[in-house]
Parts: sequence; structure tokens; C-alpha cells
Amino acid sequence: MTTNYDMLGRDELNDLEAILSISNSDVDEVIHTVRANSDVLFTWDYERSRPALVKLYEKAKTSQWNAETDLDWSIEVDQVAEVRKGQNADKSAFGEMDLKGTVFSTWGEDDWVNLGVEMQNWSLSQFMHGEQGALICTAQIVETVPWIDAKYYAATQVMDEARHVEVFAKYLDTKLSGHYPVNAHLKMLLDDIIADERWDMTYLGMQIMVEGLALAAFGFMQQMSSEPLLKKLLRYVMSDEARHVAFGVLSLQDFYQELNSKEIRERQEFAYEAAVRMRDRFLQQEVWERMGVDPKEALTLTLADPNRNVFSGILFSKIVPNCKKLGLLDAGDGWLRTKFTELGVIEYEDWVDTGAEYDSLDAVAQDRTA
Ligand SMILES: [Fe+2]
Ligand SMILES: [Fe+2]
Repeated sequence: MTTNYDMLGRDELNDLEAILSISNSDVDEVIHTVRANSDVLFTWDYERSRPALVKLYEKAKTSQWNAETDLDWSIEVDQVAEVRKGQNADKSAFGEMDLKGTVFSTWGEDDWVNLGVEMQNWSLSQFMHGEQGALICTAQIVETVPWIDAKYYAATQVMDEARHVEVFAKYLDTKLSGHYPVNAHLKMLLDDIIADERWDMTYLGMQIMVEGLALAAFGFMQQMSSEPLLKKLLRYVMSDEARHVAFGVLSLQDFYQELNSKEIRERQEFAYEAAVRMRDRFLQQEVWERMGVDPKEALTLTLADPNRNVFSGILFSKIVPNCKKLGLLDAGDGWLRTKFTELGVIEYEDWVDTGAEYDSLDAVAQDRTA
């Protein structure tokens, strides 16, 4: 873990300068070690006592897909042409903003296209690293969760996540034009989720927060993209992800009933902390470095773009209703409701929660019926 992170308070850390001061210094590292602190639990109670998880497990068994044969990898992808298509309506990363006097005032069309290419390389790279985080967290849940139905289900998710790492890695290698190492802030968030000794925090951090955000981000990219291979890849990944988020909701719902108010508050704070970190610290700083632009100058501009708030709001469209369904929004004195109101994302509270929608997102089953 980076030392200056531990020394800073959250407000200071969310300061742009502090965010940028933390970068991935281990870009050549191949193996990254995290110490897990949780107990590994056997259970001798094999009774199938959680019907919602039994149903989800059956669904996971029949909706498995094969990344090699269910996707058409012979499709040729012209990344530059795709980026140009996407930029037709909007030549810059800054919407309508006035760029006079900034480093971008001299940029021509090719620079903007290069930027679009690098942003796509960065995003897909972080998806890939995040998927590996999910692979590791789910393997950990198999070990740490006390219920047999959850161990069975989590085992299917381990397979799903392996497939997701596989497809993003293959798409990056064969269709795009470069990889990025894991973003330092993403790596720290994953490390913290893995290191927490309370088994349900792996669920809350990964299944509810990270996967909730990923599900929304994949949906956004899926709608924006016109490239058929990426579109189908994302549709299939999303159909798995919806089950994963549902797994979190269905598991934690029961468990949270048994917790006292102090324990619930810790979960609320954990959820809020993860939300702020994902919203304020995943800033594509490495893209600007690669483009030869001072990240601070570029990010000061992007953060001032009003469209950014709309987009970062959409990323919470799954997280907020799921937190509500778990009772986290209003527990205690409604602490998390107040915090999500301050973040400007409370409007999503009544959007459909993923515990209810995973069936309708099962693209794999839909394609097989068709
Ligand atoms: Fe995944
Ligand atoms: Fe997942």
C-alpha cells in the first residue's frame, strides 16, 4: 500500500493534487501480493435453505457461455474508425467547453482521435483488471461465506469472472492498440476489499459497489458502441454481472437483519467510502500522461464539465437502488441517504434493483431461445 494514502484524510485525498500524487509505481510488477485476513469456513450444514440462491445457482448453470465459440472473433475491428464514428457528435472530451488558452486549443482532429483511442485502451484495461479483482473476491467468498448455497453460487461466479478476464484480455490483445497497467486507485480499492476480515465486506465492496458500477458502465458503453463484437461481448458479460449483483443483494439482505446498529453503520460508511473513491479517483490520469498533457491541467477541465456529473450519476443507477433494497439507505438515522443526497445520486433510489432484474438481462438465454 502507498504510504501517503494512509497518512491523508479523505477530503485531502480527494483533492486533485493528492489523487494525482498517487500513481502506479509498479508498472513492471507481474505478481501483486495482498494479505487476506478473513477466516476460511467449512459448513457441515448441507441443507438447501436459501431458495433465492438455489434459483440463482440453477440460472448460472444454464447460462454459461464460451468466450471462444459464442463470440465471433473473426470480426475485424478498425478502432480508429470506431472512435471517429463515436466522436462525430462531439469532437472533444470536453463537450461544449471553451478551450481557448488551454493546451487543447492547438489540437487537431488527429489528436482528438488519438485521445479517444487511448481512452478506450485505458477503459478496457481497467475493466480487465477489475474483472480479475472480481475473480479473486469471488474465490475468497467461496472460502469465507458460511452458507452452502452461497458457496455453490460463488463457485459459478468464479468461472464467470475467469471468462470475463479472458474476453477483455483477448479483445485488448487482438482488436485494440495497447494496454494500461492497473490504475493505482482501483488497485487500492480492490486491495482493501480483499484485505477486510469481515466476509460480508467482500460482498458489499465487490458485488454491490464495484460490480454495481461496472454493470452501469458496461451498459453505457454497450449503448454507445456500434462495433458488433464489443456490443455482444458486453451484452454477455452484463448478463453474468446482473446475476452477480443479485447474488450480493440476495445474500446480504438476510444477513443485515441480524446486525446491530453499530455494525450497520460500519457497512454504510464502507459503501459510501467506496462510492466516493470510485467517483472521484478513477480519473484516467495515465491517459493524459501518455498523451503528453499535464494531467492536472486536463483534469481540472474535465472535472468542470457539467456533462461529467450526469455521466458519473448514471454510474450509480444500480448502486443506489441496491443499497436501498439492503436497507442501508435508511438504517440508523438515514445516514447513507444524506450522503447519497450530497453526492447528487439519490434520484436513482427507486430505479429497478438488480435482485429483481437479472432474469430480464439474461442475453445468453434470450439468444438461445431465438
Ligand atoms: Fe465480471
Ligand atoms: Fe461479476
